[in-house]
Formats: sequence, structure tokens, C-alpha cells
Amino acid sequence: MARYPKPAEGSWTQHYPHLDTKPISFEDSTSREWYELEKEAIFKRSWLKVGRVEEVPKSGRYFTREIPAADTSIIVVRDGEDVRAFHNICRHRGNKLVWSDFPQEETAGTARQFTCKYHGWRYGLDGACTFVQQESEFFDLDKAEYGLVPVHCDTFAGFIFVNFADQPSQSLRDYLGPMLLGVEDYPFHEMTDRYAFKVECRANWKVFSDAFLEFYHAPVVHVGQHPRALRAMITAGGYEAPHYQLDGPHGVVTTAGSLHRSWEMPPENVKPADLATRSGLFGPWEQSDLGELPPGINPGKINPWGLSSFQFFPNFAILIWEAGWYNTHQYWPTSHNSLIFEGNVYSLPAKSASERVGREMAAVSFKEYSLQDANTLEATQMGIEAGVIHQWPLNDQEVLVRHFHHEAAQRVADYQREKG
Ligand code: FES
Ligand SMILES: [Fe+2]
Repeated sequence: MARYPKPAEGSWTQHYPHLDTKPISFEDSTSREWYELEKEAIFKRSWLKVGRVEEVPKSGRYFTREIPAADTSIIVVRDGEDVRAFHNICRHRGNKLVWSDFPQEETAGTARQFTCKYHGWRYGLDGACTFVQQESEFFDLDKAEYGLVPVHCDTFAGFIFVNFADQPSQSLRDYLGPMLLGVEDYPFHEMTDRYAFKVECRANWKVFSDAFLEFYHAPVVHVGQHPRALRAMITAGGYEAPHYQLDGPHGVVTTAGSLHRSWEMPPENVKPADLATRSGLFGPWEQSDLGELPPGINPGKINPWGLSSFQFFPNFAILIWEAGWYNTHQYWPTSHNSLIFEGNVYSLPAKSASERVGREMAAVSFKEYSLQDANTLEATQMGIEAGVIHQWPLNDQEVLVRHFHHEAAQRVADYQREKG
């Protein structure tokens, strides 16, 4: 028996006519060849979030990102007012331009210019080649033609996005569309306390993302971590979200208020550390006052509202919580069955030592929660790779999973059509 009203068509899935209700194949998550197509069709032409503006607060601050799904490394740098991105490749003979101790690893720092570690060519923050060692030994070399190769770069709500297409088919704002633009006025820029972690996992990037597109698994994978209201809902029949919404390739799932109140845990689920720090799985018990939130945070107008998890196709998600903090997920494939998962937890700067400890407790609990998913997903990948079963049923609480695989496949199909 549904606890919340479903759309007039009878289900969230049927509400969106491009989706059907049949079992789906997960061959898109087990095939090497398919992954190669996804790199071209998705990662080399979608807008990808690569950082936040706070990571490049003043001119000359930079960071590099390794993006194996696009076969490249990039430099993101602030040049005056502008945030720019370039392929991290020296134009002389292809040496990776910016790296520290190990060429494969990401790095960050401040520079007035970038100097190649091989023969010393130099580049300005705008990418222009400014110095060639023994320039007169070259043959008709015009430095102006040897600047770094730029990557399209734009920002939204302080998040830095890049696009590897020669000419992106849509601007970043058009790509995001009205639903995601609706989160723009959330005070992301004030929430500068950040805790970050990175995990390698042996699962396809979509399989991993799937576990964060539905909460149908929460009663099982995260058993023993349910605040009272969530436990009551589960006992009464299982997890149900009051609102799902799709917009272009993106999606959101909203949950009702009170489900994620770690300050309303049944006593047997509260750890001594939670009590001591007055914080835990779903954030500090004291709610941060962020003022009135933009209406786009709660597109289904759910009252009371608890959480909105916005999926930015293809590999980024922002989860905004009732308690006044947010976290992000990112799924970077490294092969057809492996990925790097990046988790970030953001909140207002702590005003006291005890607040600081509370923030750290929340971040650590969140990491533990995410790793419960990661562990399960390696097991899922093994199951689907066995190749024994070819069709998998999805329920209505898994509508975002269905939509996600559909959108990814659609892009591969478009790409294949384009290439004939
Ligand atoms: S490869 Fe960079 S200067 Fe030669
Ligand atoms: Fe989970």
C-alpha cells in the first residue's frame, strides 16, 4: 500500500513515457567494449564537475585532475577572475606538464607559470607558451601557436565543470536544465568546512551510482542505523520516497523530514561517540541555520522535507540535508569494472572546538555509511559479471536507476548513429 500519492499514471516509472517497466540488462556495466563507447559518448562530451571555486581562491592557484574516462589529465587554474582548464600536456614532446612526485597522481599548488620538467618550456596561467629553451634551434617555431590545449570550463553555484568536446552541444546552464538550476541559490559558498575521502572500488561506475539513486536498499544494507521515523516506515512496509523527478538526463529523489534525524535514533542505535559529540550519521544534532532555502531544493514541495539527492548526469550528485549541510558524490570510472569514488562533506565553518568535533564525527559516520555500499557493490559486480542472468527487474523506487541506464545507453546510441 503506497504511503505517498503516486503520479496519475499509477507509478513514478510510468509517469515518464520514455521509460518502460520491463526488466533491464546490466550488460552495459560488464562489457569492456561498452565502456570504451561510454568514454567517447558520455565522458568526452558531457559537462563534468571537477572541483569548487574555493579550491582556486586566487590567481595562480591550481589543481590537476586525472580523468581516465576521458584518457587525459587536466590543469584547472585561476587566472585573475577566470577559472581556466587545460589538458595537462606540454606542447613540445608531450610530457605531462604539472605533477609532483608521481606522474599518475593529482597535485595542487600556486604558480605564476607552469614549467615543463623535461626541457623547461613555460606556460602562463592563460595557457600561452611564454618560453622555449634554445628557441633559435627550432625551425620557424612560433610560440604563439604552442599554447596549452584549452578545455571548455564553466562554473555553476561555485562548482567547476569541464567539457572535452571540441564544441559542447549545450552550454553548461542549458545542459543542467531547470531542475538543477533550481539549487543555484543554496549557500554553497558559505559551507567551506570540507571533509573529503576517496575510495577505489571494483564495480562499474553506473552500478556504484545506482546504489545512491535508490533507498530501497537502506533497510537492508544500512540496518541498525535507522532513526526512529525511518525504522517505523520500514516496519510498516518498507522504504518509500515521496517524490522522484527527472529533467533531461538528470534526476532527484526527495525524502520526507524526520527520516534522517540522527538525534532521533532509538537508544540502541546511538553509539557512545554519537552521544559525546552530539553528532553522527546524518549530521550534527544541532541544525545549522542557513536561512530560507531556495524552493528548488525541494522540487516536490514535500512537507516536512528531509533530503534531496540531485543526480547530475553522468557522475556527480549533491545531497542536501534538512540538518543544514550537504555532501557530494562522484563516480570516476577507471575501467569497465572499477572506479574511484569521491565523497565530500560540506558545512558552515565550525564556530567552536566542539562544533568542529561534531563535524568530523558526521564526516566519519558518512564515510562508514558509504563504504557499506561500496562493499556490497563489489559483490553485485561479481554477480552480474557471471553472465548467467541477463534480465533484472526494477521496482518503482528504482526509477532513477532505470532512467540512468536508459540515458547512458541513449548517449551511446546517439554516438554510434553519428559515427555510422
Ligand atoms: S616535453 Fe615539455 S619541454 Fe620538452
Ligand atoms: Fe546506501
